[in-house]
Amino acid sequence: FTTDSYPNLKRDPKFAQITEDDIAHFKSILPHRSSILTTTGAHANATPDDLEPFNTDWMRKYRGHTTLVLKPRTTTEASQILSYCNFRSLAVVPQGGNTGLVGGSIPVFDEIIISMNNFNQIRSFDPVSGILVCDAGVVLEVADQYLREQGHIFPLDLGAKGSCHVGGNVATNAGGLRLLRYGSLHGTVLGVEAVLPDGRIVNDLSTLRKNNTGYDLKQLFIGSEGTIGLITAISIQCPQKPTAHNVALFGLQSFDHVRQAFVKTKQQLSEILSAFELMDGNSQDLVAKVTGKKHPLESKCPFYVLIETSGSNDDHDAAKLDSLLEDLTTSEIISDGTQASNDTEFKGLWSWREGVPECLGHWGGVYKYDVSIPLAEFYDLVTATRKRCIEAGILGDRPEHLVVDVVGYGHVGDCNLHLNVPVRAYDKKVEQVLEPFIYEWIQERSGSISAEHGLGLAKKAYVGYSREPAMLKLMRDIKKQYDPKGIMNPYKYVEE
Ligand code: FAD
Ligand code: MLT
Ligand code: ZN
Repeated sequence: FTTDSYPNLKRDPKFAQITEDDIAHFKSILPHRSSILTTTGAHANATPDDLEPFNTDWMRKYRGHTTLVLKPRTTTEASQILSYCNFRSLAVVPQGGNTGLVGGSIPVFDEIIISMNNFNQIRSFDPVSGILVCDAGVVLEVADQYLREQGHIFPLDLGAKGSCHVGGNVATNAGGLRLLRYGSLHGTVLGVEAVLPDGRIVNDLSTLRKNNTGYDLKQLFIGSEGTIGLITAISIQCPQKPTAHNVALFGLQSFDHVRQAFVKTKQQLSEILSAFELMDGNSQDLVAKVTGKKHPLESKCPFYVLIETSGSNDDHDAAKLDSLLEDLTTSEIISDGTQASNDTEFKGLWSWREGVPECLGHWGGVYKYDVSIPLAEFYDLVTATRKRCIEAGILGDRPEHLVVDVVGYGHVGDCNLHLNVPVRAYDKKVEQVLEPFIYEWIQERSGSISAEHGLGLAKKAYVGYSREPAMLKLMRDIKKQYDPKGIMNPYKYVEE
């Protein structure tokens, strides 16, 4: 995939081309040599290969063509950059850890990348309230590790934690593995500091849990995907670090059994339940194939569920989990199961869930659909998509089959399915079989075409399947209000 796959997108001539004078100006704003990477003219200090990691997304599906990456260190520097870009009509793309899965963090043409890599300071932490204030470019795992040393955790965890930034998490409203326990960032984020496209600094870095003073404008930044401003810092409510952990993996014979298991698990584990994750048998077969590891359960099952408990009393939590396992076994809801008995096994069981995204890319590419569907029909979408690929003759084992498999996994506890179609190569033929079929299917069930990954470029053409025209108009009005010249992350979902 390159932007050539989007023939309807044309570079907007309203945006200026970067000149030598522009780069000289950015050099005057950013005193550190390493804060500018460019392949342009006399100022060139990088090769196209150096810019490749910034121009390519995690899935290797989208490729941008920027010649300039700016890495500010302070909010003042970020403000000066944006104010100049706005004045000159230079388009920009905010980039965090570049782990986004919808092409939102990559320029479409030659937009300037504002990388948040140098915004990496923890600003403050109050161990009494559990409120962390930190720069937007702090890597999620680094923030979490810092908090763990202070007896707390970050209220979000996801497979990309080693690379993604907390600012990127807020910009995408990432959900992750424990949303069912700690809630959405719309609840835990208490404040943001952001730079508007014209350079104004919005200082709403509140550390108050309650603050009903008019419109809660920070909410607009949560999930805005870099379209209305650059988030430079966040304040966030962090939970106490649990001192007791358990994880169990079950095998189940049907999705109906998964639903029954979910109901019983919620009833019996209630306050200590911290994850309820689904992996179908096909996804686990692919992980086994790629990693060469043996699956922890003896019997092959069409569905697997991983549950995690996080609490403060080992004996209490273990007793609850044992009793749940016994109940699920005697009522024949699960057909196989195992529990971790130490830290290595804990990580080992989680790797069969967290390793899925990485393994699916093994054959060349993957079409990803991150959707919300009511549990009654949750897995039917995977079955329907598989059938459609078979009928189209594109799914199979031979090299000429473009599609390797159709798999489903995800945060079933949040009704969030990840329907994934690993392929041997990205190809329009596959896309035409899958789209708009999948989006129509979701619309018919009043689901959402984007549960947690956002819209970026990937879902731009399909927002109408989940949002009414009146809602889209309101979003575009807000975009115009914040970014009248349209320089922030152009060509992405919010534009017509
Ligand atoms: P980027 O990819 O750099 O950017 C994402 C978007 O946010 C872009 O539109 C960008 O312009 C904007 N942006 C980034 N930083 C800023 C900023 N400071 N200010 C304004 N805009 C900004 N997502 C989930 O929700 N749940 C998961 O469980 C999950 N698991 C993942 C597992 C793997 C292996 C991978 C590769 C990805 C996963 N993701 C998941 C997707 C991704 O990690 C998240 O969307 C993450 O929040 C993106 O953060 P980032 O720093 O990498 O942002
Ligand atoms: C996950 O839950 O693993 C992530 O959202 C990434 C993905 O969808 O593959
Ligand atoms: Zn996910």
